Amino acid sequence: MSLPLVFIVAVAKNGVIGGDNQLLWRLSGDLKRFKALTMGKPMIMGRKTFESIGKPLPGRETIVVTRDNAWAFEGVHVAHDLERALALADEVGQRMGASEVTVVGGAEIYRQLLPRAARVEWTEVDLAPEGDARFEPLDPAQWQETAREVHARNPEGKDEADYAFVTYQRITNGCPPR
Ligand SMILES: NC(=O)c1ccc[n+]([C@@H]2O[C@H](COP(=O)([O-])OP(=O)(O)OC[C@H]3O[C@@H](n4cnc5c(N)ncnc54)[C@H](OP(=O)(O)O)[C@@H]3O)[C@@H](O)[C@H]2O)c1
Repeated sequence: MSLPLVFIVAVAKNGVIGGDNQLLWRLSGDLKRFKALTMGKPMIMGRKTFESIGKPLPGRETIVVTRDNAWAFEGVHVAHDLERALALADEVGQRMGASEVTVVGGAEIYRQLLPRAARVEWTEVDLAPEGDARFEPLDPAQWQETAREVHARNPEGKDEADYAFVTYQRITNGCPPR
């Protein structure tokens, strides 16, 4: 049986999630949450997002999606299409004893895999920067907000904005998405 697919994404008020293949804000609370949500699980990401991170993150299994048959990186699983990425993530996730598979971007990967996602862990970032990578709003007919945690930026200036952690569950009417 397939493990549920969970998106983890941080989105500015204008839908921007990145620019020039980089994140556009520093939010220490969000980095901590990202770590907590991904630890011990497989992470599917696009080749561009991987290049922007630069290395596999410890305690997680990284599955990079690329059409480039020559692409390789030590310690990283490679998939050349999304079906293979999902199958590989399931295999790896079962081996790790993970409860779910995470999808961590970027824009191209989110767009293509959204129909398969069961839950979205969305960080609302109270900024509206210019950027070339976007995440479209979720369709309220298909997604239900089930949790919201509001955070003010921390006073030591380690955060560049206020933010909120929001959980959306797919409204399945009994049919799992994958
Ligand atoms: N705010 C957030 O939460 C967040 C999270 C992650 C990323 N980001 C941002 O998002 C931006 C990157 O997003 P992006 O859309 O430009 O790139 P991306 O989704 O990370 O990667 C795109 C690449 O993935 C591969 N790919 C995509 N679809 C594929 C398919 N169906 N089969 C095989 N390979 C496929 C291709 O790699 P090849 O070109 O190698 O074939 C493609 O160029 C950056 O700015 C990053 O900082 C933000």
